Amino acid sequence: MMKLLEDRYGRRHDYLRISVTDRCNLRCVYCMGPEGVKLLEHRQILSYEEILKIVRAAAEVGVKKIRITGGEPLVRKGIEYLIKKIAETPGIEDIAMTTNGLLLEEKALALKEAGLKRVNVSLDSLKPETYSQVTRGGDLNKALAGIKAALHYRLTPVKINVVLMKGINDEEIDDFLRLTLEYPLHVRFIEYMPIDAHDIAWEGKYLSLQAVKERASTLGLPLESIEVRGCGPAEMFKLPGALGSVGLIHPVSKHFCFSCNRLRLTADGYLKPCLYWQEELPVRPVLNDKEALQELFRKALDVKRQQHTMSPQRNRDLEEDRRGMSKVGG
Ligand code: GTP
Ligand code: 5AD
Ligand code: SF4
Repeated sequence: MMKLLEDRYGRRHDYLRISVTDRCNLRCVYCMGPEGVKLLEHRQILSYEEILKIVRAAAEVGVKKIRITGGEPLVRKGIEYLIKKIAETPGIEDIAMTTNGLLLEEKALALKEAGLKRVNVSLDSLKPETYSQVTRGGDLNKALAGIKAALHYRLTPVKINVVLMKGINDEEIDDFLRLTLEYPLHVRFIEYMPIDAHDIAWEGKYLSLQAVKERASTLGLPLESIEVRGCGPAEMFKLPGALGSVGLIHPVSKHFCFSCNRLRLTADGYLKPCLYWQEELPVRPVLNDKEALQELFRKALDVKRQQHTMSPQRNRDLEEDRRGMSKVGG
């Protein structure tokens, strides 16, 4: 048995998040500025065959869980092919996708048939105007149709990611809580993270998730703690009698770095040990040598820091810009 992936702090890494594109059919306010971002050139993007080499090498050293992210992963052509091949890889037990859901209605069946197990859908509002404002033009009905299709074709558990933003969607906490009473959806409220040096919106909009617990208590809906499959960093709860559940992901107020089990692969071929820090290791030079690829995974863990130091001041102090969320895939 090959030595498994463990970092300097004893954290075992078995989760690889793969960004397959930096392109997106939305431009959410917390993810990119109004003018969008400079996109990668086509030739910079890893091919599916290249990604598969990395996945096979990773599976041999203990990676069991793969998440496909973007940008928006469903805008990349032929994504079903990649999923099918990853699902067939010995050692891979869980393959999931994080998507905005707009293309899910048309793709859910093909994704299920390819072997995708489940989806996490970003949905920050249940009001058409607010959804359109946050996503800069997105159609809420299309996202909802995508979520229905995911439930219909059993890409389950279906998780809904809600980035909580003061003055934008904090009035909707009740509606999202109630959604879990009626539907088997796992709504996860996420604290807004100051990721990018240009994220000027963060300071006025960040809200701690304590607000969610307080709303539930005001509504007389006690949150009971539960476990849900693959709920990495989320604290999970359930309202009595609910079909779904409520999760709280609080990277800012109470980080979960001590239990971090994830590595990231960027669309242009860099291993990124942490969402937050700038260290990145290029995979292209070692793509054709499995042992060297596995060694690169170890090197990535050797430079991985113990935790993030997220703060808006820290972002302003950065000399170099960090990759924004749309280029890391969350
Ligand atoms: P599950 O496997 O279903 O638990 O998914 P996940 O929570 O790992 O993935 P998802 O893409 O749905 O991410 C949910 C939120 O958590 C996003 O806002 C991510 O940016 C954030 N997140 C995911 N991984 C990390 C991480 O390693 N560090 C930090 N700080 N935030 C993360
Ligand atoms: N803070 C918190 N979550 C974010 N996401 C994107 N940008 C941020 C941010 N700045 C979320 C998206 C998506 C997931 C991959 O990351 O809503 O669901
Ligand atoms: Fe892991 Fe970095 Fe996320 Fe902390 S911020 S949980 S160390 S990826």
